[in-house]
Parts: sequence; C-alpha cells; structure tokens
Amino acid sequence: MKKSLLNSMIEQWLVVPPVETTDLSGKTVLVVGANVGIGLEASKHFARMHPARLILACRSESKGKAALAEIEQETAYNGCELWIIDLANFASVTAFADKFDKEGGDLHLLVMNAGILQSDYQPTTDGWESTLQVNHLATSLLSLLLIPQLVAAGRKSSTPSRMVIVSSDVHHWITLAEEVKSSTKPLETLNSKELERMQSRYYESKLLNLFFVRALTDRLQSITPLSAVAVTPGFCYSQLRRSWYEKPAFSFASIMLAIRERLLAWTPEQGSRQLIFGAVGGRDKEADMKGGYVARGRVEEVADFVLSDEGHRMQDAFWNETVDILTSVSDKVAPIVQDYLVPGASAN
Ligand SMILES: NC(=O)c1ccc[n+]([C@@H]2O[C@H](COP(=O)([O-])OP(=O)(O)OC[C@H]3O[C@@H](n4cnc5c(N)ncnc54)[C@H](OP(=O)(O)O)[C@@H]3O)[C@@H](O)[C@H]2O)c1
Repeated sequence: MKKSLLNSMIEQWLVVPPVETTDLSGKTVLVVGANVGIGLEASKHFARMHPARLILACRSESKGKAALAEIEQETAYNGCELWIIDLANFASVTAFADKFDKEGGDLHLLVMNAGILQSDYQPTTDGWESTLQVNHLATSLLSLLLIPQLVAAGRKSSTPSRMVIVSSDVHHWITLAEEVKSSTKPLETLNSKELERMQSRYYESKLLNLFFVRALTDRLQSITPLSAVAVTPGFCYSQLRRSWYEKPAFSFASIMLAIRERLLAWTPEQGSRQLIFGAVGGRDKEADMKGGYVARGRVEEVADFVLSDEGHRMQDAFWNETVDILTSVSDKVAPIVQDYLVPGASAN
C-alpha cells in the first residue's frame, strides 16, 4: 500500500474508533513515556480496566508524579507506580530492566510509547543522535530485555502477552538514502553527522520501529505466547512537536503545522485508543496482530517498501546491527536472543 498524506488525513477524519476495553485484573501493564500526551491518555484507559499493577515509566520524577495524581483523580484507580527511565541513556534503560527483573514480576502488556521529534542533531552521551537512540535503539533495548517477563506472563495466561511499539504513518513517506541502503552498517551511517538529514530523521525512526516489530515477529516462534504489534496513534495534538514551537521565530512550516493541528488533529485521548487496541484488541485474530500494524482501530497494510525485497533486506540489516549494538550495551541481550528467538526468515 502507498498511503498519501491526504489519504491518511481523510481516513482519520472519517473514523474515530471506539475504545477497546477488557478486564485487566491480575495483570501488569507498563507504559513507557506516560506522563503526557498519548501515553498519559492510554494510561488512563488502562487504569479504568483495573490492572493489578500499572507502571508509568517517565524520565522526569515531577512530571511523573503529576501524571500519577491526574490518573488517580480521573479514574479513582490507585495501583499506579512511577518508575524513572531515560531512553537517551542506555545505563538508565539497563538499570530499569534490572529493577524490573527484581521487582516487576510477570509483564502482560508493554507499551513503548516514548518518542521525540528533534529538528537539530543532538548526540546523547552514548554517542548516538538522540532520535535514533530514544525512538529506536533504547526502545528496542528495553523491549528485548523485557521479553523473559512478557513470555513468562503469556505462559501463565489464557492470552499471549503484547508488546506494543508506537510507530507512525510517516513510515509511508520516507525513502532511505542510497548511502544507508548500501551500507553494511546502516544505523552507523544514519548516525553520522556528515550525512545527517534531520528533516527526515523522525520518519526514519518510525520506519525502524515497524522494522523492529516485524523482524522480532519473524524470530519469535509461533508458539511463543507473545505478540509484538506496531501502532500508529494517528495525527494527534500533543507535545511531540514542542521543538517546533520552541523556536524563536515562527516559520511558514510551523504556522502551517499549527493550522493542520487545529483543523485535523485528534486529541491525545483519541490517538491513545490505537495503543489500547494494540494492547488488548484483536484477540479473536491474534495471528493478524502478531507483527501487525494497527491504525484507526484495525490492522492495516504497511508501506510497499516495507513489503518489498529491498525492504526485507533493510529490515534484516537493521535488526542485525541493532542486536550487535545492544549486545555491547547489555550482556543480557545475547542470552535473550539465543533463548527466546530463532534465526529470521530470509527475504522473499
Ligand atoms: N502526536 C502525533 O501526531 C503522533 C503521530 C504518530 C506517532 N506518534 C508517536 O506517539 C508517541 C507519543 O507521542 P506524543 O504525541 O504523545 O508526544 P509527547 O506528548 O511529546 O509525549 C512523548 C512522551 O515520551 C517521553 N519521552 C521523550 N523522551 C524521553 C526519554 N528520553 N526517556 C523517556 N521518556 C521520554 C515524554 O516525556 P517528557 O514529557 O519528559 O518529554 C513523553 O512522556 C511517540 O512515539 C510518537 O512518535 C505521535
């Protein structure tokens, strides 16, 4: 499928899917990037489903506490916990995973929602461009490190655990640079300051989210009680584009964006319904949910490029490089890949 921006907008404008709901008694839910926007609204929906534990993973303690108070006040649910994580710092992610290993228990639903949209090249202390690290590498790292807890929960439950990774329709509108496609280390190539294309960096990162879900699904045995799902919340008003508005002078692009947001954007609550669908919806079609792309309340076809031979080749190249990088970040990644995953299907 080749979806245009206009198509995406029209479809969103025509349909606002309802909120899926289920009973989450006895279950543990973890939402990463839960203090504001779509993640906060998704957390409120989860709270109304009464999980045993609802862990909000946020990078700011004060913002996290405010979110906790807001959820308690609006839903009367008091099982929320605030855990701190900064995806721009690998050590923070591995410390979080270690804490989860000791105190988290089984994990039924993981929602990797945190994301940034940066207009400038800003490296993290780990040496990666921030968007690449936050949106892709650290998101993949935590997702891999939590596979044992997700699988353990799925084994004891009547339904598979779910790993929801928040991607976007923007994956339809990115063409990878030739230097990236021909590189043996495409992530390193994307990361190089010389080749920086920050205007497309967010798009690339959301394509990487989709690749990760599909590559992981290729490597999870079908009997493993874990479904990885990519989701787009749709075009929503939130703080995602905060860096655009923080710029001193209003540009033509930011004025057009403000108009588009005012006229067409969903509220973060409407967007959060897609995350909820990814986490608890489609149970009657679990096979479609595995590696699926949820948009507007259903599983949708992804971009033609993702389905092409070249797309498969890039998906495997990004997977292999991601696992190599993350193996050097945490000595737990290699055993998890070894114990829980099988070699991926080759391109077809
Ligand atoms: N809004 C849209 O139109 C749209 C469309 C498609 C996809 N999405 C995706 O939806 C997800 C949520 O975005 P949103 O629109 O709700 O944006 P948002 O309002 O800016 O929320 C982003 C969340 O991610 C957190 N976060 C950012 N950097 C982090 C880090 N280093 N460590 C931990 N948490 C971090 C933020 O925490 P702080 O508040 O502390 O920064 C915040 O909780 C993102 O993955 C985004 O790419 C959004």
